[in-house]
This record gives sequence, C-alpha cells and structure tokens, in this order.
Amino acid sequence: MSPFHITRTLPAAGSVTALRIDVLDGLTSKHKTLPPKWFYDARGSQLFEDICELPEYYPTRTERALLTSHAGHIAAATGARTLCELGSGTSQKTRILLDAMPRLHTYVPVDVSESAITQARQTLLRDRADLRIHAVIGDFTPPFDLPDTPGPRLTAFLGSTIGNLLPGERAEFLAAIRSQMAHEDALLLGMDLVKDEAQMVNAYSDAAGITSEFNKNVLAVINRELRADFDPDAFSHVALWNGDYERVEMRLRSRTAQTVRIPALDLVVDFAEGEDLRTETSAKFREEAVRSELAVAGMTLTHWWTDPHRLYALALVVPTPDPTAH
Ligand code: AVJ
Repeated sequence: MSPFHITRTLPAAGSVTALRIDVLDGLTSKHKTLPPKWFYDARGSQLFEDICELPEYYPTRTERALLTSHAGHIAAATGARTLCELGSGTSQKTRILLDAMPRLHTYVPVDVSESAITQARQTLLRDRADLRIHAVIGDFTPPFDLPDTPGPRLTAFLGSTIGNLLPGERAEFLAAIRSQMAHEDALLLGMDLVKDEAQMVNAYSDAAGITSEFNKNVLAVINRELRADFDPDAFSHVALWNGDYERVEMRLRSRTAQTVRIPALDLVVDFAEGEDLRTETSAKFREEAVRSELAVAGMTLTHWWTDPHRLYALALVVPTPDPTAH
C-alpha cells in the first residue's frame, strides 16, 4: 500500500445524488435552506482559504495560536498513534499538531473536498514521509468506516466546523463519535465562542466581499451540477446574528421576484422579492452548554483552552469513565 491511501465515501456520481436530494429538500421547503457542505468545490475551497486570511475572520488565526500553545500538551495527554481529522480541508493548521506528535503512526484526513485533500497530500508527502496517511473523501457525519489503525486515536474536529451542525444533528454527531471511541481515545474540538455581536457578524461580512462570493458559490455549484439557471447577481449576501439559537446565519436574499429552473430535478423554484435562502448556520458556543452536551453524549471535558479575549476555545474530551469498570 502506498503511504498515501484514499478511500471515497462520496463517489463522484454519488455526490451528485446527495446534492440532488439536498437541493430538492431545501428549495421546496417553506423556509428555503441548503446545507453548507456544497460550498466546497475547488473554487469554494479556495475562497474559504481566502476567508481564513481576512482581517475580520478571527477564528482561524485564534485557533492556530491556541494549537501552537497547546499541541505539546495535547500530544502528551492523548498519546495518540492515530489522528483522525474531520473536515480536514488543506490540513494547514493540523501541521502544528502533527509536528508535536512524533509517536503518531497514521493520519486520517476526512473531507468532502477532493481538491483540498489533493493539496494536503502534496505537502504532507513532502514533509512527513514517516507518516502513513489514509485520506477519506467524504462527509464527516458518522457513521463512517474508519480504517483500522493503531490506538489511541485522537479525533480532531477543528475550525468550529461543529458549528455548522444544527443542535439535533450535533447531539447525534457527538453520540456517534462516542460510540466509535475506545476508552483511551480522545476528541479535540475547536469552537468559536459567543461574544460581541458585531465582531461575530463582521467575520461573515468582510469589506473585501470574499464571504459574499463564497456564499454565492453554492449557486454556481448547483448551476453546474444540476444545470440550474441561478443568477448569483440576483441575490445579495446577508450575515446576521440569530440570538434565539446563538448562531450566525448566512443567507442569500432574492433581490427581486424571480423564477429559477433546475432541469436535472425537473424543478421550478419561485423566489419572492426579499425572500431568503439560508445557506449556513454557524453556532457559537459557551463552556457550560458544551459541558452538558458532552455529558449527554457520554463524554467529559478534560481541558478548555481559550485565548486572552475569549474569542475561541479548544476542548479536549474523553469518554466519561465507567464507574462499574475495573
Ligand atoms: C468552516 C464552517 C467553521 O462557519 O465560520 C466562513 C465557514 N462561512 N465564512 C464558519 C465560513 C463563512 C466556517 N466553518
């Protein structure tokens, strides 16, 4: 087996089927929605990389600083021999973790973006020839079959990507992660925290308009894959704080009354003037709520690291010890 092995749980044809289901579901419901994972074709993945460099988008650089400060502790505390990273993207921040883990045997990046995985492969093969890498191109929503690799396993879910899950999906996700954990395994979560509203919303409405382009890219994906005729200019980018759910939402607001055709779905969709299509929810977190959600899923927080401004947190989590075990 080559040092870089790839498994596809999202076959090229299969992903179009999943996209069809999501678009049909999302655009025929009363409040129109689309799942955020469809942003990330090659262009969307590049736009996301550009977002991470924006002055307004504090999560990436704050998380990177936290990883730099605590990677040694994380490596020592977990003794991980396998690092499984969900939503790994181009694995850039992961390098900080990988470099702190000399005992690591296998790295398993999981991402829906083939272009991001390909990019990760190039740099990792060059810099970490000692490491076995088993990439999975697919969804991070469990259950997925993980390759059989040596434990302890550290599962990393960084970038506050967990914020994309709705509360019910998050509970299911955590329970599924827990069910795949052995008692010596651990979970590392990166989470954006509740803070000043303007700062949160500005991170999704940058002056350079990159986030707007990223948001509209999902329309280009649907146009290409499902032969739809969305006019991205006929929608405006909206980012807002939803205080009831403590999340930032991205929406595409129809500038006029318009009709969109999606021949591959045999579907015609009407938008009223000012009607919103919700394209992403990005939940923001609080320590106490995270502790209880983890407890419900059978896990315990062992470390909670934040930056001086409490913008962002890294959480290290283990299965809750079973008091009846010996
Ligand atoms: C990668 C999902 C964490 O919600 O902040 C960035 C994606 N969307 N700007 C986020 C995103 C708009 C990002 N996540």
